[in-house]
Amino acid sequence: MAKLKEVLFRKIKEHRPRTQSLLKNSSDVRVGEVTIGQVIGGARGVRCLVTDISYLDPYEGIRFRGKTIPESFAALPKYPGRAYPSVEAFYWFLLTGDPPTQQEADELTREFVSRRPLPQYVIDLIRAMPRDTHPMTMFSAAILAMQRESLFVKRYNEGLKKDDYWDPMYEDCTNLLAKIPLIAAYIYRMKYRSDIHIPSNNELDLGGNFAWQMGFPEPCDDVARMHFILHSDHESGNVCSHTTHLVASALSDAYYALSAGMNGLAGPLHGLASQEVLRWIMNVRAELGNKIPSEEEMKKYVWDTLESGQVVPGYGHAVLRKTDPRYTAQREFCLKHLPDDPLFKYVDLLYKVVPDILEKQGKAKNPWPNVDAQSGVIHWHYGLTEWDFYTVLFGIGRAIGVLANIIWDRALGYPIERPKSLTTKMLEDLASNTIRLEDIPAD
Ligand SMILES: CC(C)(COP(=O)(O)OP(=O)(O)OC[C@H]1O[C@@H](n2cnc3c(N)ncnc32)[C@H](O)[C@@H]1OP(=O)(O)O)[C@@H](O)C(=O)NCCC(=O)NCCS
Repeated sequence: MAKLKEVLFRKIKEHRPRTQSLLKNSSDVRVGEVTIGQVIGGARGVRCLVTDISYLDPYEGIRFRGKTIPESFAALPKYPGRAYPSVEAFYWFLLTGDPPTQQEADELTREFVSRRPLPQYVIDLIRAMPRDTHPMTMFSAAILAMQRESLFVKRYNEGLKKDDYWDPMYEDCTNLLAKIPLIAAYIYRMKYRSDIHIPSNNELDLGGNFAWQMGFPEPCDDVARMHFILHSDHESGNVCSHTTHLVASALSDAYYALSAGMNGLAGPLHGLASQEVLRWIMNVRAELGNKIPSEEEMKKYVWDTLESGQVVPGYGHAVLRKTDPRYTAQREFCLKHLPDDPLFKYVDLLYKVVPDILEKQGKAKNPWPNVDAQSGVIHWHYGLTEWDFYTVLFGIGRAIGVLANIIWDRALGYPIERPKSLTTKMLEDLASNTIRLEDIPAD
């Protein structure tokens, strides 16, 4: 048994009685109530999911396993000789709740390397798609195509006990996480780098090898590590995390579940916003004659965007009510490494003008920037200018968190998800007191 799996199994055995006791002794304890506004309004604030992997406080931002972003970076061993931890070390941390030692992280990196090779049919599938297919479509299709590799399906068909579901789920999830950076790099090189490919470097960790196979020199290895970790998890209710969890709750395997989650990430209100930010800034640049605009010019452009009925990409959030600490972490990186980058100057200027404008407009509940407002600038600075690829980069990062979550879902035996629907007439009757809540059968 591999080391991470051993530690994880111990943690699972420690945790199971907590979930069982809550179900047995406290099932009727209320954790909130649901209003008509929440039923129609995308279930905002409805507390109906459980995860211990991350928690999103509206004002403080994300905590991974109880640690803020700076605390998480500080707690994890750095990849040898570099400024950031490896994704493998972070995966260990998300799965077990404890940072690995340097040796444990190194061993896990080696384990990941052995899981890297891609089946040839995945490459064939990607190549068979029209070359102008969006990279997210290729990415999701490639993940789905590998479903035939699922060990969970194989073991389930052989007659797997429920208590053991987590084991092949761990295998599928870890295999997927090790492989998806190679899939992404293949798509990138095929679409945008004359179809010339760079073989995997087995001396490097996930982030380092990704930058290597993409063809980007240092410090892009650290950029990849930072980017993937920052994008890894944001609680369970966001579209891609919830989708992955929902699909996996039907005991669909990790390939089905992750592919579905990635399809949700591909929407412009979610992960695609990172691409939208760059496209929008480029439009500003083109319209303002490629110069750094004055504050007044920038304000006018933001108002024009709002008045034409569009959203300002990279701003606002369904849960957060302050500047996203993932934005801040990337901003700090930019201030250190690329303070004079012309695009960073745009992003900086937007930070100065947009919150005030969104507040004046009075619609967005959160006028502050989110993670997507900053990430594209870093990619662009280091030469990754094909912005329709940015959501794939988000997707690799997000996979770390959603895969860790579905391993725990199986470990704790969470059931198939099935919230209840009501009809509009029922809501109208409830609103007018024609019926009482008790008149609607509970299930
Ligand atoms: C993230 C987002 C989808 C959250 O949506 P939400 O939870 O419905 O947000 P709110 O409750 O604050 O929305 C209330 C209103 O403000 C608007 N709003 C929110 N953020 C806005 C923005 N950045 N620009 C313009 N309008 C915005 C909404 O479109 C909505 O308008 P409507 O009532 O006409 O439909 C939204 O803020 C958004 O579209 N942001 C831009 C896209 C983006 O950056 N997405 C990445 C998120 S990590």
